[in-house]
Amino acid sequence: MRTLKDGQKHPISFTLNGEEVDAYAEPRTLLCDFLRHEIGASGTHVACEHGVCGACTVLVEGKAVRSCLMLAAQAEGATVETIESLSNTDDEFDDLQAAFHEHFALQCGFCTPGFLMTLTMLKRTGRRYSEAEIRDALSGNICRCTGYKEIVDAALTVLGPDSLAAE
Ligand code: FES
Ligand code: FES
Repeated sequence: MRTLKDGQKHPISFTLNGEEVDAYAEPRTLLCDFLRHEIGASGTHVACEHGVCGACTVLVEGKAVRSCLMLAAQAEGATVETIESLSNTDDEFDDLQAAFHEHFALQCGFCTPGFLMTLTMLKRTGRRYSEAEIRDALSGNICRCTGYKEIVDAALTVLGPDSLAAE
C-alpha cells in the first residue's frame, strides 16, 4: 500500500468531461472540493456536504454519485462528468437543460446541476420513464426554490412516455 508523509499529496489521473486530468490532492480532499477549487469545474455545487441534498451530484463511470461523499483520490483512473459536460461546443443547451429553461424548472439554480446530472444518467439508459419513476429517481435531489412540479414536467418532456427522445 502506498503511504504518504505529512503534507504529501496523492497524484491523481482521471478523465474529466472527456479531458485527461493529472493533478495532486490531499488525502482528505473531497471530490467536490477538488473539482471546484483545484480544477475550476465550479458548476458542481456544494450545500449540505453530507450526502443529503444532491447538489454535488456528478457522474462517475456513468453513475450519479454525491461528490461530497467521495474522496478526490478515489477518482483515480475513473471517468468523471460534471454539469460542464452537458452543453455542446457551441454553448447551446442540451435537451434536458433546454427543457428546464422552457418549463421554468429553476429559480436560483443552485440545485440544478445536481438534478441535471441525475437525469442525464437516466437519459443514457435509452428507456422511457413514468412520472413516478422520475420522481423516485429525483428523490435524492433537494430544491429549496421551485417545488418539484416544473422539474418533473421538464424531465418528462425528455424522458417521459411521450418524449421525442424515445421515438
Ligand atoms: S453537497 Fe453533496 S449531497 Fe449535499
Ligand atoms: S432552484 Fe434554487 S435550490 Fe433549486
